[in-house]
Amino acid sequence: MKSSFQAYAPSNIALIKYMGKLAAETGSNRPANSSLSFSLNGFKTHVRASVVEGAAEPFTWAPLRKAGLQAPHLSEHGRVRFLRHAERVMKRIGAGLPSGKSILIESANDFPSDCGLASSASSFAALTMAVAGLFESTFTTEELADLSRDGSGSSCRSFFSPWGVWDAEGARAAEGLPGEDKLWHMALIVDDSLKRVSSSEAHKRVTSSLLFRGRPERAEERLRQLMDCLRRASGSDGVHAWNRASEIVWAESWDMHALFETSEPGFGYMVPESLRVLNLIRELNLKHGGSENYRKPLVTLDAGPNVHVIGWRDEQSEQMKEELTTRVRSFARVEDGAR
Ligand code: DP6
Repeated sequence: MKSSFQAYAPSNIALIKYMGKLAAETGSNRPANSSLSFSLNGFKTHVRASVVEGAAEPFTWAPLRKAGLQAPHLSEHGRVRFLRHAERVMKRIGAGLPSGKSILIESANDFPSDCGLASSASSFAALTMAVAGLFESTFTTEELADLSRDGSGSSCRSFFSPWGVWDAEGARAAEGLPGEDKLWHMALIVDDSLKRVSSSEAHKRVTSSLLFRGRPERAEERLRQLMDCLRRASGSDGVHAWNRASEIVWAESWDMHALFETSEPGFGYMVPESLRVLNLIRELNLKHGGSENYRKPLVTLDAGPNVHVIGWRDEQSEQMKEELTTRVRSFARVEDGAR
């Protein structure tokens, strides 16, 4: 066992969404459908796990103070959930607390904590890695991802970069998709307030929507189509395949938000500025769409009002990015995720 171990993990944005759980009453994060995400290496959480003496509790949390990092806002509930997961990891890897000692968990993000992008995915993935590293676990990456999933489902995809797929067999890297060198990502922050409905609560409520019938099948079908399009995006019919991928991602994002709005009781995350951004993107796509080489960006919203945009690194798409950035400046903050 080490005296201290530090790890980090990226956040991720799902293009095919994990929304709705199987047997949710058991507290396990078993998804109703498979999902696919793109890791956001510009939005990472760092976690340090250390053995300490004289603490009042077996597990305690404190902000990780380091240049360039910002402490997350952790509610009491969030802190308890985080530390419970640290204990779960310790037990599941077969380790235990040495007598008289406790574990201090420190965490912070390398992106602004007030931008509405703080995610349980990066923090639970980094926490799992940090505790496993502290106890010198021999678990494979896939096994750690599986363990992390019990803390927060989407965190299991944060172990794989740039693309993570999570299906009935677990989470793993999705191979053959365009690399980070080919893509840019930015998040347009239109509202940085905290979520009123947590994603854990959203998973429960969506099953009450009539639209949830058929939802797992739709998501699986979209995943198949999207993987196929993304695999072909660098090939000879790449522009066509990428633009089809853009349509699938757009539809999937609306599908999830429609589930939110049609749940009983309904709820929603979009604000007027979210729609302004989406309409602007549509307008810019129409403007550039006359050119046969234009690649429309992949556009998606998480369970929140902010808009994620993933584009192809070529002249025209980067020009669209510049135009979009300029046009949203009065009402959105732009966070560049390409670090
Ligand atoms: C909308 O992973 O936050 O971001 O498993 O309850 O912690 P828990 O939920 P969480 O759900 C994420 C939902 C989503 C879509 C996604 O990331 O796939």
